[in-house]
Formats: sequence, structure tokens, C-alpha cells
Amino acid sequence: MDKIVVKGGASLHGSVEISGMKNAALPIIYACVLVEDKCIIENVPDVRDVALSLNILRDMGATVNNIAKNTVEIDCTNLKVGTSRSELVRKIRASYYLLGSEFGRFGRSSVAYPGGCDFGGRPIDQHIKGFESLGGTVNANCDMVEITAEDGPRGANIFFDFVTVGATINVMLAAVLAEGTTIIENAAREPHIVDLANFLNTCGARVSGAGTDVIKIKGVTSLHGCTYAIIPDMIEAGTYMIAAAATGGCVRLTNVIPKHLESVSSKLEETGAVVDEYDDSVVVTGRDTIRKANVKTHPYPGFPTDMQPQMAVLLTLANGVSYVSEGVYEKRFRYVDELLKMGAAIKVDGRTAVIEGGKPLHGADVVAVDLRAGVAMIIAALCAEGTTEISQIHLIERGYDDVVGKLKSLGADIEKVSYPD
Ligand code: EPZ
Repeated sequence: MDKIVVKGGASLHGSVEISGMKNAALPIIYACVLVEDKCIIENVPDVRDVALSLNILRDMGATVNNIAKNTVEIDCTNLKVGTSRSELVRKIRASYYLLGSEFGRFGRSSVAYPGGCDFGGRPIDQHIKGFESLGGTVNANCDMVEITAEDGPRGANIFFDFVTVGATINVMLAAVLAEGTTIIENAAREPHIVDLANFLNTCGARVSGAGTDVIKIKGVTSLHGCTYAIIPDMIEAGTYMIAAAATGGCVRLTNVIPKHLESVSSKLEETGAVVDEYDDSVVVTGRDTIRKANVKTHPYPGFPTDMQPQMAVLLTLANGVSYVSEGVYEKRFRYVDELLKMGAAIKVDGRTAVIEGGKPLHGADVVAVDLRAGVAMIIAALCAEGTTEISQIHLIERGYDDVVGKLKSLGADIEKVSYPD
């Protein structure tokens, strides 16, 4: 079994290059199913969820070649609809983008019900609402989701009951080759929605309004191949920003889009850190004292839910009581039990964690309960007295490209250690 072992106490200094965004790369990889041509995708992060998704497409008959570092060539011309392997699909949630892209290209789809991190129920009712609006007949149970439409998807107006990244993406994928025009209202506005729209338009689609809450898609008859570079990962960037502030260090993050980081930068400055913004980099300087702050997570441009565990760790080091409210998922505090093992004083009440800051953290044996919780444990370990061993680190490797190497280059005392099972 592999573990990450951290000896706390070092403050982080230096420069780190941010990788391509996992949550932009995944929809764009599955969007290649719509394209009967070669697509070259650049700045692809080297993370488990991306590798798994590329294997799912290979398995279905696509040609997938890694042609350079962080560059992959995908040709789905010969991909067979409905042939994805359930045991692979169930490992991650993003594989459900096959529903939209298969339905969009073939007029039908059959995919195992998705997996993904355990944050309570993660239903797909809004995805189904979207597919049905586009003329699909959807048959979904806890094993499989199947969509059929005699004449393929047809443009429609869809108003989501609430903001959902996944359903916005799935309807975009289903609508780009549909007959007619689709209008999505109450759409998600995340940067990776814009990145997907830009990729699709580079392939000849006609998507407008991405980044706002109204997205208009005029169906086209086919898409052509292209070369496209994924945007930088704003969640990876936010993670290193918080690590710099928490350890009282000074870190430059390169290959970022500062605008995507605004909610995190603003909250960090509220706690006393200094964030200097440049064209494609930011510099975060931590202070000796960390001020308490309150955080509520929201869809973009609000404070990202995927930054909630990391922010909670910073606030355990702050002077005073802070409140962290989870506004997206019904439960995303499973990591708190692990922080309590390190001496944190946190009480969870429903969707709010009350953090009594200022208690020093000490090393312990802890578990990465999910991707972002896992990286939050690394930040806690960097700030703790003594040594921390983190297990289940494959969950961290789902979404962080070389996290040990990057932190080591910033001065952290961190190793990945293999133990016989
Ligand atoms: C995407 O998940 C991300 N995953 C998540 O990041 C991220 O936390 C989330 O968006 C919010 O930003 C990927 O991009 C692969 P949603 P997704 O559709 O698509 C409810 C990470 O750490 N909901 O906005 O699931 C349900 O509770 C991961 O990288 C419905 O009830 O986000 C769902 O969990 C974790 N019905 C929540 O909204 C629906 O039909 C958020 O869903 C759809 C969603």
C-alpha cells in the first residue's frame, strides 16, 4: 500500500507550475466521442481520472495516443456506442459524460450508473430532465442509464431546477449535433464550462453564452478535429495558495488565470495572507498570524466546494472561531474526523463546520477519504508538529499531478512510501 509521509514544520518557498484542469480535461476528452476525426488535446494533467477516461474510450474502439508530455491524440471515428466497461465507468463520476456525447452523436446511449466521491446522494435527475427535453426516452436504474430517441436529439429550451455543472455539460454534449437550437437556462458558469464550449466551437460547433447562466447551442451536422489546450487547474492552484498561506511561506504559482482564483484570493486576504496577481501567475505570502474567517461554498464564481476542506485546514490555524458552510453537497465533512486525530477542534452541525482555531496540530496516521479531503490532510500535515502518514493516496492521485514532487520542490519534507500490503 502506498502512503504519503510528511514531517511538518517547513514553510513553503519557491515557484510551482500549475497543471491543466482535471475537471476541464474530462468533459473535453468525452466530448471527442462527438468528433469522427483526430483531436489533439494539450496541457492534459497526468492524473488517474484522466488516464482511466482515456482507457474507457480506448476500450470502446477509439484510437488514443500520448504523443508528447501532457498531450494526447484522440480519434473516436471507430468508437462503438454503448460498449463502455461498467467496472471502469463506475470508478469515477465524469464517465457519465458518455451519456451526453453518445446520445449527441448516435441518438442513443447506454452507460453504467456513475461512481465518484461519496458526498451523499449524487443524483442525476437534472441530466435526465435535459435528455428528455431533447427528445430522449431515458431508462435509469442503479445499474445502468439508457437513452433512446428515434430521430436523435432535437433542440429544446431547458431550465435547470438548480445550478449543476455535470448536467450543464451533459446537455451541451447532447445538443451540439441536435436538430435545431437548444437554450440552457440556470446553467453552471464554471471556467471549465467555458473551456468545453471553446473546444466544441474549435471543432465547428455553435455554442454561445458559456460562462453566463444562459447557454445557446445551434445544432450543426458534424464536427471536425482540432488541436486544443486545456485551461489551468484553478482548484490545484487554490490548493497550493492555501498551503503557502498555512505554512507562512511565499510561493509563486505559474500558468494560472488569476480571474478564476478571485474567490480564493479574496478569502485568503481576509485571513491576512497577501496575494499579488500578475498576467499568468500569482504570488501568495503567508503571515505569522492567521485571522479567522467564515466561508460558504457556492457554484462559480462563489467559493468553490472543491476548496472547502483545504480552507477548513487553514482556519484550524486561525485565531478565533470560523464557520464553514457547504452550499453544494449534502455532506462534505467526512475529513473532519481525520483532522480531529491531529488535534483540530471542529464540530459539524449539518452543512456547517464550527472551527475553533488556534489549537496546534500534531502528526497522526490519517486517511484520505476523498480527493480534496486527501490533499487537505497533506496541508494539515505540513503545518503539524511531528510526522503524519496519509493512506488511500490513490484518491489524491485522481486529481493532483505529482503533488509530492511539487511540494518537495517548495521545501516540504514529504515522501511517497510503499508498504507491503
Ligand atoms: C463536478 O461534479 C465536479 N466533478 C466536482 O468536483 C465539483 O465538486 C462539482 O462539479 C461542483 O463544482 C467533475 O467535474 C468530474 P454538479 P458534478 O452537477 O458534476 C446535486 C472534484 O473534487 N445534483 O454541480 O457532480 C448533487 O448533490 C469533484 O474534482 C442533483 O441533485 O457537480 C450533486 O452532487 C468532486 N441532481 C451536486 O448537485 C443532478 O442532476 C453537484 O452536482 C445533478 C446534481
